[in-house]
Amino acid sequence: MKIDIAIQQANVILKRNSIKSSLLDSEILISKAINKSREYIILNLHKEINKDDYLNFKKLVYERSKGKPLAYLTGKKDFWKYEFEIDQDVLIPRPDTELIIEQVLKIYKNKDKINFLDIGVGSGAILLSILKEKKGFFGTGIDISNKCINVCKKNAYKLEVYKRVKLFKSNIDNFTKGKYDLILSNPPYIKNLDLKKLDKDVKDFEPKLALNGGLDGLSEIRKIIDKSTELIKKNGKLIIEIAFNQKKEVKRILEDNGFYIIEVIKDLAKNDRCIISKKI
Ligand SMILES: C[S@@+](CC[C@H](N)C(=O)[O-])C[C@H]1O[C@@H](n2cnc3c(N)ncnc32)[C@H](O)[C@@H]1O
Repeated sequence: MKIDIAIQQANVILKRNSIKSSLLDSEILISKAINKSREYIILNLHKEINKDDYLNFKKLVYERSKGKPLAYLTGKKDFWKYEFEIDQDVLIPRPDTELIIEQVLKIYKNKDKINFLDIGVGSGAILLSILKEKKGFFGTGIDISNKCINVCKKNAYKLEVYKRVKLFKSNIDNFTKGKYDLILSNPPYIKNLDLKKLDKDVKDFEPKLALNGGLDGLSEIRKIIDKSTELIKKNGKLIIEIAFNQKKEVKRILEDNGFYIIEVIKDLAKNDRCIISKKI
């Protein structure tokens, strides 16, 4: 089987299964199956694929046709300027979360050294991107899932920032180590009952632990704010990603816990996306 024919076949199958970017996905999956770059694929469309690689490709296309996200099939996702290794135990990092990195770089433009904490570190997308950008920063990441901690550790080595990282498997409820200039979190914030309304590729494949924000979507956010009052230094900043409709409630919880709201940042779709506050 030639590469171009295999891609055409996969494109038809994915299209039939309503996968929007069917051609691009087919090209990415064939490059995964034969372990070559996309550039190689484009330049070698008439080359033959060996039988094992073809069978592997068919399996990947089948899984994609069932809705499995491309990032879980390739084991990689680009976030900010870096490539993260991921698997089904971690949330796929989202472009909207890059807002947090932008804000941190803006706020600490003139600071060379701070100690910060990422609650619910997942793949390490937030924590490690910041450490790559700010060579004097030290970061701690915690996650309730040991599997997330392991993925984050791998990424810390891959991105060569592991000497400035501490990782702990811990529920935020029980975490007591350190005092931080900055605390960040992209917490689970989807209401229990809304989980089943999510897109199929999210609800069927991404970890519930990363999504489920309890009955009102705010259960983890409450814990984070409550714990941050102990873990943050005076005048330290707390940046939390929120759902588009949580601004009012989260502002209230922050204020009730002695935080001053600095700014609410909108994402590209003009939805409220993260709240920056300061401990007073
Ligand atoms: C929305 S994901 C964010 C992952 C990553 N920071 C990102 O932005 O891509 C939330 C993470 O919080 C973790 N988590 C959920 N509840 C937690 C808790 N009570 N304490 C610590 N981590 C928790 C989940 O395992 C998951 O990795």
